[in-house]
Amino acid sequence: MTVVRRSLRTERLVLRPTIAADADQAFAIQSDWDVTRMLRMASFPPDLEEIRQWFHDQPREWLAGEAYRFAVEQDGRMIGLVDIDEIAGGVGSLGYWFDRAAWGQGFAVEAARSPVRFAREDAGLEGLKSGHAADNVASGRVLAKLGFCFIDTVEVFSRSRGEMIDQRRYALNFTT
Ligand SMILES: CC(C)(COP(=O)(O)OP(=O)(O)OC[C@H]1O[C@@H](n2cnc3c(N)ncnc32)[C@H](O)[C@@H]1OP(=O)(O)O)[C@@H](O)C(=O)NCCC(=O)NCCS
Repeated sequence: MTVVRRSLRTERLVLRPTIAADADQAFAIQSDWDVTRMLRMASFPPDLEEIRQWFHDQPREWLAGEAYRFAVEQDGRMIGLVDIDEIAGGVGSLGYWFDRAAWGQGFAVEAARSPVRFAREDAGLEGLKSGHAADNVASGRVLAKLGFCFIDTVEVFSRSRGEMIDQRRYALNFTT
């Protein structure tokens, strides 16, 4: 099944499929340690060439059904990213990160609701998983507000921190 590349709209935001040209703004956002320390797979400091290659590959990932990644725009400016990746067996992994200047205004919850619906209705997934570092209270609130259920806590390696951390894992089942 090919999932149509389309934008999603919320009251204040537009979420559009990412393009290669988003890499520089993503690099700027991830240059903030307070953002990137919460991203298990990201390097710090960020590597511009690696981020450019990653964004260059994202249209292909979408068409292959591997990952659906949306740039979140407020008034035409990219303030963050919401994605569904690691898609396998009808389940994807929800991720999100926002420019620190955009925090605390309800954008994460507002933005992430649309890709959650997209995952169920457009992509036909049966559910989503997600997780956050145990010290990331805000992300726990985001997942709770999206309806995710807490599953367990596991030890994982954080690339950005360069150490093992406790990760709280969650799931959202569309079939029950
Ligand atoms: C986590 C993140 C996405 C939250 O974005 P945000 O736009 O500030 O979130 P919202 O404004 O939608 O707030 C969501 C909830 O978190 C709460 N919250 C926000 N910041 C908080 C903080 N520092 N401590 C505790 N709760 C917090 C809000 O109060 C809200 O809950 P409430 O409605 O019950 O009051 C943002 O902080 C971020 O990008 N962090 C860095 C990257 C990251 O952590 N990504 C997730 C990795 S798992």
